[in-house]
Amino acid sequence: MTESEIKEKQLGKALLKLTQKYGSPLYAYFTEDIEKNYRKLRSAFGDEGVHIMYACKALTNLVVLKFLKKLGCGLDAVSLEEAKLGLLAGFKGREIVFTPSMVGGADYDKAVEYGLRINVGDLQALEYMGKNHPNYPVCIRLNPHVYAGGHEKISVGHVQSKFGISIFQMDEVLDLVKKYSIRVDGVHMHAGSDIQKDEQYMEAIGVIFGKAEFFPDLEYVDIGSGFKIPYRSSDTSSNLEKIASFVKEKLNTLSVKLNKRVELLMEPGKFLVSNAGYFIVEATVVKKAPGKTFVGVDSGFNHLMRPMLYDAWHDVINLSNPNGKSQKYDLVGYICETDTFATDREVAEIRVGDFLTFKNTGAYGFNMASNYNSKLRPAEVLVHEGKDYLIRRRETFEDLISTQVLPDLFY
Ligand code: LLP
Repeated sequence: MTESEIKEKQLGKALLKLTQKYGSPLYAYFTEDIEKNYRKLRSAFGDEGVHIMYACKALTNLVVLKFLKKLGCGLDAVSLEEAKLGLLAGFKGREIVFTPSMVGGADYDKAVEYGLRINVGDLQALEYMGKNHPNYPVCIRLNPHVYAGGHEKISVGHVQSKFGISIFQMDEVLDLVKKYSIRVDGVHMHAGSDIQKDEQYMEAIGVIFGKAEFFPDLEYVDIGSGFKIPYRSSDTSSNLEKIASFVKEKLNTLSVKLNKRVELLMEPGKFLVSNAGYFIVEATVVKKAPGKTFVGVDSGFNHLMRPMLYDAWHDVINLSNPNGKSQKYDLVGYICETDTFATDREVAEIRVGDFLTFKNTGAYGFNMASNYNSKLRPAEVLVHEGKDYLIRRRETFEDLISTQVLPDLFY
């Protein structure tokens, strides 16, 4: 048996034990893996003047946020609610970068009140900040107009995307900055998630460094994220060292030009937590049909949306019958719609009652879950230093109806 096969076996046993204790479906996360990912980023980019702002939209459980804070991360929050979770987890105002999309002035007022770093992605917001919070520094999110590959729904740095201020609108940006004497302390770009090629990422980074020198008050450049992780064994991952050395050179040149030490921010989500998470389900139905076998599980795209939304691939392991003879299955959920996790997938023989896990589901797994079909959301468990902790209890029917209001009608 190879080392990785032994590891997979041990992991399988551990996940099975968690499921026996906490039930199914279940999200399980391992701090050990999150820490390894964090250290990889640090070893490529360094510590001094480098701020790793965890993109918490990937996974916002408060315990996970606290762990990332302890490691030395800041936070990237896309909503006031995410920012509030960050504050609750102990992050201080400037440790959170607020990068909303299409929000009105009231959200910026609150962000100022909370003391967050503010990232504006449209001219209206820039003007609002200039008019209403003239002394508050802002970071400008630029759209670099680089197509970053990957699934079209998660590629957001191209010309058709709603995100960021177009680099072709620099004159308007500079006019507003001058008109309201806005202190631009940062420039930002995020070209998309799962960027397919390092060159695409570096091209987008190069574009904003080119614009950064327009801002004499600049303190940092935020390169967003898009670090690629392998979802299947044939996938590549970002070459961190290559990207880091490119960024360092750009930072040095910019620092010389502006005559100050410009700092670096980045906002990894997937890279930090995806491979630290497992989604475990139970096989409830094995249904032979002409030409294929469907396996139904006690879950659906309400719990793991990525396959249906992005045709995403998640490796599947049969935890309770790992040595079964491998066969092809269509793994499907209970949602009353086409609800496919995997098609024609080779998995060790699946029997009713077997527990299966989908790998790489720490990011955008639980956090994209919903109550569609009035199904309840799963529990979350964290494994830290060999011990397991329930960090979110399973939802109940009472939770489901708790926000409904019944007026005195229809009796
Ligand atoms: N910064 C900004 C401004 C972002 O919009 C995002 C992700 C990130 C950072 C983090 O990107 P990451 O390191 O996770 O690639 N639900 C999709 C991903 C959507 C990402 C949205 N923005 C998925 O499951 O693949």
